[in-house]
Amino acid sequence: MATGTQTGTTDTARGTWGSQMGFILAAAGSAVGLGHIWRFPYVTGANGGAAFVLLYIGAVFLIGVPILFAELTLGRHSNRNPVGAIKAIVGNSSWKYLGYLGVATGVFILSYYTLIAGWTFGYIFKTLLRDATTFDQFTNQGLLNAGLYMAFILMTVGVVYGGVRGGIERWSKILMPILPVLLLFIIIYSLTLPGSMAGVQFYLRPDFSSLTGQSVLVALGQAFFANSLGMGAMVTYGSYLSKDQNIITSGLGVVSFGILISFLAGFAVFPAVFAMGQSPAEGAALVFVVLPEIFNMMPGGILVGFIFFLLLSIAALTSTVSLLEVPVAFLIDEKAVRRKVAVWLMAGVTVLFGIPSALSFGAVDFFTELPLLAGLSFFDVMDYIFGNVALPLGGMMFAIFVAWRWGILNAANEIALGNRKFLGVQSAAWGFVLRYVCPVVIFVVMLNTTGVLGLIGL
Ligand code: PHE
Repeated sequence: MATGTQTGTTDTARGTWGSQMGFILAAAGSAVGLGHIWRFPYVTGANGGAAFVLLYIGAVFLIGVPILFAELTLGRHSNRNPVGAIKAIVGNSSWKYLGYLGVATGVFILSYYTLIAGWTFGYIFKTLLRDATTFDQFTNQGLLNAGLYMAFILMTVGVVYGGVRGGIERWSKILMPILPVLLLFIIIYSLTLPGSMAGVQFYLRPDFSSLTGQSVLVALGQAFFANSLGMGAMVTYGSYLSKDQNIITSGLGVVSFGILISFLAGFAVFPAVFAMGQSPAEGAALVFVVLPEIFNMMPGGILVGFIFFLLLSIAALTSTVSLLEVPVAFLIDEKAVRRKVAVWLMAGVTVLFGIPSALSFGAVDFFTELPLLAGLSFFDVMDYIFGNVALPLGGMMFAIFVAWRWGILNAANEIALGNRKFLGVQSAAWGFVLRYVCPVVIFVVMLNTTGVLGLIGL
């Protein structure tokens, strides 16, 4: 039973964070995952390097941060999961479907994210055993994939089972501080390789001519995915905050930690890639194909490879934990299901949807190249719908809900409970961005992502 300093609620049984630092580490754990260490370097590589990094940081601060504040505030105010949070403010209106979208997005992203997380876990052993199978051979073994998948979902279950303070916060406090240390180790190694400076230049010297309209979309999508925004993970984590905690400073702490880790991940990857004369634009295969090749050829590479995949697995685990916590909190709050039952139930549903994804890398032809969908795999389709479309859509709707429906003044008053200085200029600026800038920018970008602009000839 939690004994936090909650005010305005009698419901402390659902859990609270033990401290502001505990919350920051848990939320940073949710944010920092495959999105930062696996996806960030490859999308940066594919979009021209340094200029993209600047674009990404711009997207995070202009769009991501205001929405992060909105989600956390909504959660803390209501003490509820995304569905319950919305109901607490507007009752049983159609807005609740925004909450359901978030809960469903959590389950669906978890269903395919766990697969990649399972690979990173498998690669720890693959590296140690000097196993020579290629990435393609590795991913198309149905049974191996299923085994790794189950291992990873069970670790996730193990953490979420322990609850907010005894599971999520406790493990985040143990695991998160390890990340930068492991990362620094790899950076030092990467930077001392002969020829690595070309990678540093690529990464640090902006060439704006390399940016396209597409880069803007990718940067915005990455800002949502990497910061766990748009599906209510931050509503849920915010719901365990006590009233005296400062949403603004903790939110900025989380985002800055994420940017730091992403930035460092690039330093780990690009110098090594250039030192080996490889292309930085290898796409999704960058860390599973290019890096292991590099590790294989280098003295001491086995140890570095081991550390790298351990790092990725740890980062992924604190993210899968937050993806599972959203539907679990929903069942606990709305359906009065006990935590342990909720955890198993939702893990089961996740596995069910994960199977076709796991089989879509060559194990089963039907899922590998879906009929009617231009040869896309089941995995690709899930990632497109939930990773690329549902998150910005959800983020836009959360912005509109908080700014227009709940009201900036009400939301700002909630933030002010833990930060008196917020009322005034700061809340006015936040309100303006949340009301106008976020919805308009995301809307235009979404039209573009979904191809609607192309259809009307723009
Ligand atoms: N932010 C996580 C990552 O970077 C992924 C994630 C997305 C987690 C949405 C929770 C919600 O890997």
